Amino acid sequence: MQTFVRFEQLPSYSKLTSQAELLRQQQMKKLFADDNSRFTSFSVKAPNLFLDFSKNLFNADVLGDLLALARDADVETWRSRMFAAEHINASEDRAVMHVALRDRSANPIMIDGKDARPAINAELERMRLLEQKLRSGEWKGYTGKTISDVVSIGIGGSNLGPLMVCEALKAYSDKRFTMHFVSNIDGVQIAEVLGKLNPETTLFVIASKTFTTQETMTNAATAERWFMEAAKDKAAIAKHFVAVSTNRKLVTAFGIAEENIFDMWDWVGGRFSLWSAIGLPIVIDLGFDQFVELLEGAYEMDQHFQSAPLAQNAPMLMALMGIWNRNFLGYPAQALLPYDQCLHRFPAYMQQAEMESNGKSVNWAGEQVNFGTVPLVWGEVGINGQHAFYQMLHQGTDIIPADFIGSIEPTENVPGHHDALMANYFAQTQALMQGIDADQVRQELTAKGVSPARIEEIVEHKVHRGNRPTNSILLQKVSARSLGSLIALYEHKIFVQGIIWRVHSYDQWGVELGKVLAAGIQPELDLARGINPAHDSSTIGLINYYKQLKKKP
Ligand code: F6P
Repeated sequence: MQTFVRFEQLPSYSKLTSQAELLRQQQMKKLFADDNSRFTSFSVKAPNLFLDFSKNLFNADVLGDLLALARDADVETWRSRMFAAEHINASEDRAVMHVALRDRSANPIMIDGKDARPAINAELERMRLLEQKLRSGEWKGYTGKTISDVVSIGIGGSNLGPLMVCEALKAYSDKRFTMHFVSNIDGVQIAEVLGKLNPETTLFVIASKTFTTQETMTNAATAERWFMEAAKDKAAIAKHFVAVSTNRKLVTAFGIAEENIFDMWDWVGGRFSLWSAIGLPIVIDLGFDQFVELLEGAYEMDQHFQSAPLAQNAPMLMALMGIWNRNFLGYPAQALLPYDQCLHRFPAYMQQAEMESNGKSVNWAGEQVNFGTVPLVWGEVGINGQHAFYQMLHQGTDIIPADFIGSIEPTENVPGHHDALMANYFAQTQALMQGIDADQVRQELTAKGVSPARIEEIVEHKVHRGNRPTNSILLQKVSARSLGSLIALYEHKIFVQGIIWRVHSYDQWGVELGKVLAAGIQPELDLARGINPAHDSSTIGLINYYKQLKKKP
């Protein structure tokens, strides 16, 4: 482990701490009133999207110090190391090269001493061919019928990305195939999906980087059982099951034909894998050309990230604003609020990307950190949120910075809808920023004829203190290209924050303990078996209660 300067010891850290003291006394609406170039100064055009970060509680001095923080943390060197395929995933001793999957140049991509481009291109070509065969009807099921339904079985990074993209780009699908996604080990999900399907016309895509994930393996086994009940013949599996994995051995042992295995590589993290063959459901649903558009959009953002000066670099600015809000102003969460129905799964997808990556509490040296790393990332389609949790965003005791993501053009143009939606997008960030003070409330109520006594009773309840930070991201339209850029924007934000916090963003050992304990507990749920007396009393009590009320099979 090379030596490094801890986040809180970076020279700009203490400056930013003092700046935060000053800025906490400021009102954003005053910052806007004092400087009518604030929007121009604090917004950037990046590939396929526009970012306005001016509605954050900061000024030019703070931004200068944040940019210095990025330099102090050597973010640019680390960025070069990532793109040069150095093993920046040091805890797993791996390169972090999801960017290679969307590198549209013709240059060699050297990873671990080998040019990865031929292998990447070969998998892309195999994906293209599979899609072509399926769409043209050349690929037939075991009774000679063409495929009508595709069931993607996977979880986490092997589910959320393809699901989110297929949902986002629905308008571009010819709907030739009905897509289904199964992730939950709860049998309710797979039973519901299989209940609608005909095995003769169904293709299963089993997506698992490791091919050991319990949820996926259980669902895959159930799918195979269901299929075999109809097909009877093992040979039919080759016409109905394909897999995406790094683990060819286990896929083959499962019974999937060699030619139906799509490769991925250990230098692609699960939550960054939709650009690989994990994106096969996207290719099948939307067509290969749309997938290439998605890759190109991401590649454009990669190039912007590598070459734009720090002060105009959208992922860098998003990361720095996030760090300012989290570490210096002390805000605990980050909301993601799409104002585009297409992006309804985007918050869930990004929640994994951000929280599995930077939900860490030790630094590169294994020392406990004494600052907050990733905030709680959560969100929902913004317009629905307005009628649910926005009350808390406007008047709650915690300040929750929020990203508002909207589009200039809708993918479905229904008269009278889009401007109504976008008026809310603009109004909400304005309301969160400027709020409404007691005098304004009094004036408003007086104008409505409310009595002075009644006004004094309710005035404080109607005050919105404002000063609630937001980023506004605008796409021209949700398309494969703009979505690729948007995802890559957040991926690089995550990278920058991990480097500045000095945490390992590309492992996920925090998910292991629960898996190990579940494996031990599962046999104890059998009514014929005892419960491990070494468990704590709560766990024993709960398992006992479950077993007492569980019906005998
Ligand atoms: O348990 C977390 C995790 O390892 C994620 O990082 C990953 O995306 C998901 O499980 C699925 O893993 P796999 O693709 O190996 O089935």
